Amino acid sequence: MMEEKNSTLILVSEKPGDTLNIGKIIGSKLQKGNVVALTGELGSGKTCITQGIARGLGVPENYFITSPTFTLINEYHGRVPLYHLDVYRLSGSRDLDDVGYEEYFYGDGVVVIEWAEKIMDILPAESMFIYLRYLDDNIREIKIIGKANNTSEIFKELRKGVFR
Ligand SMILES: Nc1ncnc2c1ncn2[C@@H]1O[C@H](COP(=O)(O)OP(=O)(O)O)[C@@H](O)[C@H]1O
Ligand SMILES: [Mg+2]
Repeated sequence: MMEEKNSTLILVSEKPGDTLNIGKIIGSKLQKGNVVALTGELGSGKTCITQGIARGLGVPENYFITSPTFTLINEYHGRVPLYHLDVYRLSGSRDLDDVGYEEYFYGDGVVVIEWAEKIMDILPAESMFIYLRYLDDNIREIKIIGKANNTSEIFKELRKGVFR
């Protein structure tokens, strides 16, 4: 099995559809136990890429994925469960003490977290970190850093895309 340590890939998305496709490619390769940590300002595309990840995981197209800003967590069912967290309103990881987050992080599904930097101290080291940056109206830089054992395979698929 190929393993890379802290590989980095920088992509440029020129429209929401690009970001959706990038998410779709990532989602199609994710496995149970993978955690995706999203960081980026409001409107940078965290929810957009999560929608793509959901599609890639086989969540039916008619499920509209929105930020669980107030519910904290949304659960969707694809090939494996998708736990979509938005921790914007938390003051820190301590706020998750009563939620039993370990069951999600080390459980049967894939976890995607918006505003992940707020709970950095409890994220598994193997998490895939995605940094989204607003460059212009419709342009986003998407930087992906990962060291899970399927990262290199995901990067290979993304490089085949047209997102550079
Ligand atoms: N290249 C792009 N990728 C993602 N979103 C884009 C892009 N260009 C424009 N947008 C717009 O930016 C907004 C991103 O919103 P959203 O995904 O909800 O961001 P966040 O969850 O980070 O706050 C959407 O209104 C989307 O249409
Ligand atoms: Mg969002």
